Amino acid sequence: MIDEPWTLGAESVIYKIERWGQILLLKQRPKKPYLLQAIDAQLRQSRTSRECKMLNVARGLGIPTPAVHWVDRSSFTIAMDYIEGTRLRELVQDVPPKTLEKLCVRLGRLVGLLHMGDVVHGDPTTSNVIVDRIGKMWLIDFGLAEMNATTEMKGVDLHLMKRAFETTHWDIQNEMLDAALTGYKQTLGENANSIIVRMEEIRERGRYH
Ligand SMILES: Nc1ncnc2c1ncn2[C@@H]1O[C@H](COP(=O)(O)OP(=O)(O)OP(=O)(O)O)[C@@H](O)[C@H]1O
Ligand SMILES: [Mg+2]
Repeated sequence: MIDEPWTLGAESVIYKIERWGQILLLKQRPKKPYLLQAIDAQLRQSRTSRECKMLNVARGLGIPTPAVHWVDRSSFTIAMDYIEGTRLRELVQDVPPKTLEKLCVRLGRLVGLLHMGDVVHGDPTTSNVIVDRIGKMWLIDFGLAEMNATTEMKGVDLHLMKRAFETTHWDIQNEMLDAALTGYKQTLGENANSIIVRMEEIRERGRYH
């Protein structure tokens, strides 16, 4: 294809290209050798279409997401805006606690906005949050996102966020979660409560079954 990959995701190869004076990012889902051919193609196809659709759905709900320029269904590749910035994952190490708290409140608000529109992200980790140079927060990686989300699905989404804080930012996970839930409640109001309760229930279930 073009040049060397810029980075590798868990399920994707990422390229940066220049088109019409603009930097674009290509997210390609390569073949997985251990999967049956037909299943592999179907999975890559469905994740690619889903990501494309859900990036747009989320933007419609007011969440900053990269705009999709084109999709190549034969190579399972999406061309989207390259968001120049730093992932929340890296910022966690670098910013003072007060700033981190504010960032997590904002992340919680964005997840709240998604859930208010009955959409779940599906992989709400700090690697999928980019803060750009003017401080705007973007969400990426919508290949597992879903519409018509139920309380259970939203509870799972919060649980996944909590687990991401736990496993990658264990020393400050509680502060991060508190801040994120504060932001979440700011967006969802009363409706946040049943989902947060469900998040706790899902955690308990995971522990005892
Ligand atoms: N539009 C974008 N602008 C800037 N960087 C991006 C963009 N999309 C992806 N990236 C970078 O590439 C990495 C991998 O992308 P993405 O998370 O979409 O792929 P993935 O294969 O689903 O990865 P993973 O499963 O590891 O989260 C991101 O963590 C981010 O650093
Ligand atoms: Mg990712």
